[in-house]
Amino acid sequence: MQIKKVGVLGCGLMGSGIAQVSATAGYDVVVLEQDQKFLDKGFAGIDKSLAKFAEKGKLKEPVETVRARLKGATTREALADCDIIIEAIIENVDEKKKTFSALDATVKKDAIFASNTSSISITEVAASTKRPDRFVGLHFFNPVPLMQLVEVVRTIATNDQVFEAAYEFGKSLGKVPVRTSDKTGFIVNRLLVPYMLDAIRAFEEGVGSIPDIDNAMKLGCGYPMGPFTLLDFVGLDTTYYITHVMFEEFKERRFASPPLLKRLVMAGWYGRKTGKGFYDYADPANPVPSRL
Ligand code: 3HC
Repeated sequence: MQIKKVGVLGCGLMGSGIAQVSATAGYDVVVLEQDQKFLDKGFAGIDKSLAKFAEKGKLKEPVETVRARLKGATTREALADCDIIIEAIIENVDEKKKTFSALDATVKKDAIFASNTSSISITEVAASTKRPDRFVGLHFFNPVPLMQLVEVVRTIATNDQVFEAAYEFGKSLGKVPVRTSDKTGFIVNRLLVPYMLDAIRAFEEGVGSIPDIDNAMKLGCGYPMGPFTLLDFVGLDTTYYITHVMFEEFKERRFASPPLLKRLVMAGWYGRKTGKGFYDYADPANPVPSRL
């Protein structure tokens, strides 16, 4: 199974990152978006990131060579000859099903379909297509160009060769792939989400302040970011959504959203992207804890 051309659905934070690492690894890439303005925004982020890598001497080829492999498109016909299509659109199961079932008719029959979802059932989305056997999860981590991991997710319907091809594809991107199965949250979020929610509960119970809990985990465990910095980085809306899907699946308290998380989301404080979350980013270089 030869993968030469990669299709990416969505040019947001994750989609643009996946497109960038694919082009850097030598693949031709087509990114599909609903509107040119989303492509422009995503490609501007890619340009910035590629420039950073080039500046540090971490690109094997000139930026222009990598960039020339990346194309944007607003109609799905542009993906017709892709060998693998990786979806990174909104975390909404109906939208994902609608998108993949429409693609089924336009993309060549033996192309692999992959979803970058962090919590939605791959099996359910795969079942909306005529190729559930050629469907996997490929879960990347933010920021995609820097994070080494990719979770490769098998459903009960995934063909073994397709799964191995997806695993090898992950490797070819310079990532470290891990094999996992379609259980909500896979490996990372299964462990990470209860940890982050517990940090919020610890704060609510007065165990420590936001910066003290962050420093404790950063300096005591050698984590690159404390839990509140990470929550703001991932996005509180995203985390809240994941907790819902995971709680729905397992009905266990460890996956339930603490009231404070819900309040922050209701207030529109989603973390870094809105300028406010557990920290206030009025001065992005010096975030201060929010008064909570
Ligand atoms: N492209 C290129 N370079 C980038 C970049 C990008 N997208 N993002 C950051 N950089 C550069 C920075 O500019 C900086 O360069 P400099 O040294 O020349 O100034 C360098 O990378 C290091 O970045 P920082 O100084 O900002 O900080 P760190 O050394 O802490 O590294 C980090 C940043 C890699 C994000 C690190 O903090 C980290 O690993 N944090 C944890 C991230 C994490 O856990 N992500 C997973 C979230 S969970 C998830 O995604 C799953 C989902 O389902 C929820």
